Amino acid sequence: MSTPAESRSVTSIETILADGPVVLPALLLCDFGHLADEVARLEAAGARGIHLDVMDGRFVPQLTYGMVVVEAVRRAASVPVEVHMMVDEPEQTAVSYAQAGADIVTVHIEGLPDPTATLKAIAAEGCRAHLAISPNTPVERVEPFLDDCDGILIMSVEPGFGGQSFQPSALTKLSHLRDLRHRRSLPLHLGVDGGIASSTIGSVAHAGAELIVAGSAVIRSGDYAAAIRDLESLAREQA
Ligand code: DX5
Ligand code: ZN
Repeated sequence: MSTPAESRSVTSIETILADGPVVLPALLLCDFGHLADEVARLEAAGARGIHLDVMDGRFVPQLTYGMVVVEAVRRAASVPVEVHMMVDEPEQTAVSYAQAGADIVTVHIEGLPDPTATLKAIAAEGCRAHLAISPNTPVERVEPFLDDCDGILIMSVEPGFGGQSFQPSALTKLSHLRDLRHRRSLPLHLGVDGGIASSTIGSVAHAGAELIVAGSAVIRSGDYAAAIRDLESLAREQA
């Protein structure tokens, strides 16, 4: 395997965010029989990053994929890759996803015994370390760790499945963190994941989301390029 520095994306997160919020398509609902083709189609359609949902069947009911698939996507993609870990004991494997060339490794605060240690271990690999927060977890839970991470991913659905409805409680969390970031001059990127569609993306962008994950709205659209373009333009109008 190549070294992390060689295998990580050549495009930085700052570069993709230069023109405003971006849509990161989630591969969860794509055709896994043609994985590399799906990544190539998404990139050709203008995807500025790819979101990968690693689920272990314990932290969430569904079992998806792990390292082998993340490595395959990393090889196929030239845009940044976010690995969203929905697993028990993420501290055991987070570093290996960073070493596999993920540009962002996102770990859930729920059940993470020592967030600072895990975030620092991810960052030590030259990878961005983000904290994710589920809908039922108060936003205050992440506040002690804002100096230790590069971003926060607000879940706007219960983690575990694509195609669920957006939960508006995410908007309050986003705007709270956006204000905190401003007051404390923190270099934090805010993300949102779940239920993003043309009817919801404007509100999350308005509340401060920049890395906006969209699964079904892109993959089930039938036209990846039109979906990404339309969603991003709605986000940028409201940012
Ligand atoms: C849900 C995942 C999401 C999912 C989003 O647990 O974390 O990334 O793929 O799918 P949509 O956009 O369909 O809600
Ligand atoms: Zn996700």
